Amino acid sequence: MKKKIGVKILGTGSYFPEKVLTNLDLEKIVDTSDEWISARTGIKERRVSEKNEPTSELAFRASVEAFKFANILPKQVDMIIVATITPDMFFPSTACFLQRKLNIPSVPAFDLSASCSGFIYGISVAKAFIESGLYKKILLVGADELTKITDWTDRNTCVLFGDGAGAMVLSASHENDDILSVFLGADGSYSNLLFLPAGGTFNPATVDTVNERLHTVKMYGKEVFRVAVPKMVFAAEKALEFSGKKLEDVKLFIPHQANMRIIMAVAKKIGISIDKVFVNIHKTGNVSSATTITALDEAIKSGRLKSGDIVELVAFGGGFTWGASVIRI
Ligand code: ACO
Repeated sequence: MKKKIGVKILGTGSYFPEKVLTNLDLEKIVDTSDEWISARTGIKERRVSEKNEPTSELAFRASVEAFKFANILPKQVDMIIVATITPDMFFPSTACFLQRKLNIPSVPAFDLSASCSGFIYGISVAKAFIESGLYKKILLVGADELTKITDWTDRNTCVLFGDGAGAMVLSASHENDDILSVFLGADGSYSNLLFLPAGGTFNPATVDTVNERLHTVKMYGKEVFRVAVPKMVFAAEKALEFSGKKLEDVKLFIPHQANMRIIMAVAKKIGISIDKVFVNIHKTGNVSSATTITALDEAIKSGRLKSGDIVELVAFGGGFTWGASVIRI
């Protein structure tokens, strides 16, 4: 019988822009306070990309790190996937811009849009392509620059987001199977709660759409919060069930870093102690598609995880979309 193709995680990498924007800096921009932001979100500071530093640049730097860690050359991958909702341009894809920077022509490259759940969706797509035997080594990136689609006059949203990118190199393997499970979900009936109204075909760009700030994120925060918690709990429990592992087997739980109160509520409902939950939101803010992979990379590089550890990633985002994955490092 033909042996099943497994997926090995060869390496991870991440990159955050240098510029730091603190809550105190935000106090000078909108009517807010460090106290309010810290208490409601857990965020203390976030990184902000430069004008000439598009999403593909962050993706490139994270990918270089991941290749170094994986000890392979970029030209050894045969597919590039970039999860993002803040592409350099509508088209070509950010994956194609990244491909150009990596100088690996010919391999397929495409973007994946699933908001903050993008990286988990990407794991599912990469796993399916590798298991099918069609592709052997895939570069999967989660990269976003939410600060470039932020309304800096709206205190409800501008305090939440940051920029960053994370990358993972996955490979076909007959010895390892590091992606133990993936569970995905979406419900488009919530598409009116977190969105960017203009610039697409529904509401093309005009002078009015710019003046009305319709090219920036609009969010009904309370409703997002209300749906996010049960969906993240559901996804985490399903992925754990499908992995055949028990909660006590999970060394580290890495939730989407959107809000400390969401993270605490999800951990409590799942029944995982907070010391097993990875948190870096205080220094990153919400970096959308990049949250889980940059957190995973930090957990690995800081020594909090060692080879063989079981980790669960879970995310939730605009759409709404949600997803979870149990992996072995
Ligand atoms: N500084 C000071 N006051 C503020 C700020 C701010 N930055 N933002 C809002 N307020 C005010 C509001 O105007 C309101 O004032 P009012 O009572 O005079 O009207 C008051 O604070 C309370 O506002 P609420 O919206 O009720 O605050 P809430 O406790 O719901 O917290 C928050 C808001 C943090 C956005 C919360 O709803 C939340 O975390 N929601 C989840 C949204 C999220 O994380 N989105 C990220 C993208 S989706 C994702 O990644 C999961």
